[in-house]
Formats: sequence, C-alpha cells, structure tokens
Amino acid sequence: MGACYRSESITALSSLGGDIRWLSVTSVLGGALPVSRFFTGGIMSEIESSTEAHYTRGDLGQSILTALKRMGKDLDALKPEDLAPVDEFHIRGREATLELAALCHLNSGQRVLDVGCGLGGSARYLAATFGCRVTGLDLTKAYVETAAMLSERVGLAEKVEFHQGSALDMPFADGAFDLVWTEHAQMNIADKRRLYGEIFRVLKPGGRFVFHDILQGAGGEPHFPAPWAKVPSYSALIAPGDLRALLESLGYSVQAWQDKTAAGREWFQARVAVLREKGPPLLGFHTLLGADAMRILENNLRNLQENRIA
Ligand SMILES: C[S@@+](CC[C@H](N)C(=O)[O-])C[C@H]1O[C@@H](n2cnc3c(N)ncnc32)[C@H](O)[C@@H]1O
Repeated sequence: MGACYRSESITALSSLGGDIRWLSVTSVLGGALPVSRFFTGGIMSEIESSTEAHYTRGDLGQSILTALKRMGKDLDALKPEDLAPVDEFHIRGREATLELAALCHLNSGQRVLDVGCGLGGSARYLAATFGCRVTGLDLTKAYVETAAMLSERVGLAEKVEFHQGSALDMPFADGAFDLVWTEHAQMNIADKRRLYGEIFRVLKPGGRFVFHDILQGAGGEPHFPAPWAKVPSYSALIAPGDLRALLESLGYSVQAWQDKTAAGREWFQARVAVLREKGPPLLGFHTLLGADAMRILENNLRNLQENRIA
C-alpha cells in the first residue's frame, strides 16, 4: 500500500528494456446500463482479452441481485454496505480501502479515478464518504455494467461513473484527476511503465496516486490458479523494490510505503478457515471466482504463507 505525488516535472516514457522479472505492494435487477467502451482501434490485446474472460462469469449482476434477495435484502432499498461481501475484490476488503483512503486527504471538490475499479465498491465508498466525483475504469465489460447497475441501486449514480477501457490507454485528458486510486489491478498488466506512465499523465501536477496491490514475494512464483490469473502467462507481478524504482524513474515522489503482507495473511487465513467450516456464503468472492473458487482461495493462502506474494 502506498502513496506518491506526481512531481512537477514530466518524465518521458520509454519502453522497458533489460531483463525485468515480473514477479507481486500490499506492502487495499435489471438490464445492463449502457457504459462507454474505449480501446485503441476498438480492440483489446491478447492478455486483455484473456483477463476479461478470466473475470467474466455469466450474468454477474443478476447473480448478485438473486443472492441479495435470498439473503433477505429489499432490492428496492439496497444500501452500499449490503454489497460488501462482493464489491471489494481485494485482500482485506473494506479494511484495506479505509487505510488507503486515510492516505488520500480527499474533499468533495476533487476528481478521483479508480483504475481497474471492478464492481466499483471502493469508488462508491469514496463518493459516499467524501462527496467527491469518482470515475471507474475497467477492462471487464460485465464488471463495469454491474458497477453502474449497483451504483444506481444504492442511489450513487450521480457521483460515480464507469467506463470500459484499458489502463494502458486511458480515455482521459492529461491532468484530469486530483487523485488516482488502484487496488489489485496491476497483476494482470505486464507493461508497468506504460501503466504507471498513463496514471502519471492523467494526474494533475502535484496530484496523488495511491495503490493497494499484490506484488511478487521472495518465496518464488505463485501457485496457480490464483484469483487474478488461472495460468502464469497471464500474471505479471513485480517485486516491491522494482515497483518503487519504476515509480521514482517516472517522476513520482514516494510519500508512504506500507507492507501489509502480514495483515493480509491473517485476514486470508481467517476467511479460508470459515469457508472450510461453513462452505460458501450466498454472496462472496466465490460469486466472482466460480466453481474453482475454493482451490483458488486455498492457493492464494499458500501464496501468502510461503511469501510468494507480498
Ligand atoms: C481483482 S479485480 C479488483 C477490482 C477492484 N479494484 C477491487 O478491488 O474490487 C482486478 C480488476 O482489474 C481489472 N483489470 C485488469 N487488467 C486491466 C487493464 N489492463 N485495464 C483496466 N482494468 C484492468 C480487471 O478487469 C478486474 O476488474
């Protein structure tokens, strides 16, 4: 987990050279609404298509609403907290989001971008808590559509908007945002220099970038299938030291760098223990991970226990 400022000087971007090992920083019902879609030339790269396929699972919006109904929720009076079991798809859920938000110093006049926003849980939290306008960008159409639908259901549609697009080619003007936020999205993005360069570009000079991420640990390659990729070829983790060096080389000034691996390990262990004992709840990470959910979550616990991710 970390926070950096975009310093005034703009660093020119160049493609990565050398032998960089992409290895893991925690170191946070109705029809689909129309969402805008942005890709260069209208097409996704191969890793982007595979990533979208990995996260796409049937009619996700309908599955979530059905589960909420079975849990006894009134679908016409949903509250943001009703979505908590599913809408923060990262280690330590809301707890991590609160910690990351504490690094942001947000106010209602600011514009925020959530890169790889998923179902929009963090975007809704920031908009509801600080009154700011939040834009979410995500590769996966089903997530973006579901994020828009859920936001409308909980009465936050005026404060949050969602777009389908790639973090490597963002459909936003230079300097458009006061804050860029991202949680658990870069693990699928191999071209880190371009990713963090794009984030730098869309930040106002002096703007803030905060992240809560899975990075490569010292214990070796992760076990797969993992929550972010079924196979190693679609995983792109970076070691904490390499990430920090990359950010500094792009012109970011690092203000905070917190390793939350131990807390993540404990949280994951407790969660998996409950699942082993009670089986899957009506709504939870398994809604997003599908039939293989238990194996994927067990693998990720091992990844944390064996320091394969940090
Ligand atoms: C594990 S989910 C996390 C979602 C959300 N940030 C959260 O914490 O709940 C990872 C997200 O990153 C998105 N993603 C992966 N690669 C991306 C890319 N190149 N551009 C935009 N989004 C991407 C995926 O579609 C997915 O929604």
